[in-house]
Amino acid sequence: MTTAFTKTYKPNKDEASRQAFVGSLKKYVNGKLEQQIHALYEDKLLPKYLEQHGKPPASRDEAKSLFEKEHLYQLWGSAVYTSQDLLWETVGDTVDRILEHAEEKAKAIDNNDKKLGSLTLNPDLVLPEPIGSTEIHRQPGGYFFDSEKNGLTAPLLYYGTIQLYTAAKGFSSGKTKDTFGGHAMAQLITQRFPDTQPTRILDLGCGIGALTRGLKEYWPEAEVHGLDLSGPFMRCAHAMAEDSQLSLHFHQLDAADTGFEDNSFDLIVSQILFHETWDEKLLEIMQEVKRLIAPGGVFFNIDVPYQPNRIDIPSQVTNDWQVVNNGEPFWTGFVDTDIDAALATAGFDEQERFTDYQAAGGNNSYFLFGAQVNS
Ligand SMILES: C[S@@+](CC[C@H](N)C(=O)[O-])C[C@H]1O[C@@H](n2cnc3c(N)ncnc32)[C@H](O)[C@@H]1O
Repeated sequence: MTTAFTKTYKPNKDEASRQAFVGSLKKYVNGKLEQQIHALYEDKLLPKYLEQHGKPPASRDEAKSLFEKEHLYQLWGSAVYTSQDLLWETVGDTVDRILEHAEEKAKAIDNNDKKLGSLTLNPDLVLPEPIGSTEIHRQPGGYFFDSEKNGLTAPLLYYGTIQLYTAAKGFSSGKTKDTFGGHAMAQLITQRFPDTQPTRILDLGCGIGALTRGLKEYWPEAEVHGLDLSGPFMRCAHAMAEDSQLSLHFHQLDAADTGFEDNSFDLIVSQILFHETWDEKLLEIMQEVKRLIAPGGVFFNIDVPYQPNRIDIPSQVTNDWQVVNNGEPFWTGFVDTDIDAALATAGFDEQERFTDYQAAGGNNSYFLFGAQVNS
């Protein structure tokens, strides 16, 4: 078989129909079923609470115990948990079947001496805790599975589930799906900072480098780098970039301690990195960005928009459930963080910083934050 590396993850007919079922199940559980919890709160839990306390619950912590006694909430939690198990099972079937072929393709790419970009693995990197031993999203083995051998199981599982989620959540497909929003992010950056013409770009926590590819497609003249803690992810990102004929440079590094020179990038971005990291590390990463960003450069981040002041009590409670039970341990810490204050602590001036929200189709939106540093 000689399939291109980027096309290696392809469910067969049976796998595709099981994955479509899991996608629909997730859409139902996270959509209609969760809406019933909102109705339950409005119709029963809130009136009862008002009667007893004369005021609505002020926070998710005050409200949580009201929900926990309800069968509907218990059913929802059980369905979320089970659908997540099914997700890993079904995507895992495809990964198991294609793994050997994917490894062969990646090795052939590694051995090709006409590579366009580069891959710098760092086998001695000590994974920071607690992320090093966390299975984010309950992904079996986590992002760092098989780090010593840099096997491709973890990145292929990640890739497969993003495909499934993207379809189930109703985000748009096509180019956006392939680059996980790389073009969309580039457009958001140019809308906000019209003079942006980056020459050296860094994508922090770039995962399998899909967004990174999109940025290179959008700004072909720029030198584009991506970094991630996960060696297996970096290997997959490199193989996918080479296979797409894109010159990209991937590094296995901690975003908080990169070793790059001061002022060496004029655009530094991240997508859904920060809600998977904790307060201390978040600040260290921002401080590292402050060191790396060139005068006039832009630091631009997209992340989850579920800060408590933006969502109602039932959503706060269900999101918090995901933190405790469904592999999102850092989510609540992130949405409770005052990001503007964190940027300020990292050294970005008031006139440089921004935090904002952006509609993203349907009920979806992005949380945008960062800075354009003074020239
Ligand atoms: C949710 S994934 C997002 C990946 C990619 N940005 C995307 O949009 O698909 C978060 C990534 O951040 C990486 N990560 C978390 N903490 C990191 C850190 N301190 N330094 C570098 N990468 C980190 C994880 O390994 C993971 O690949």
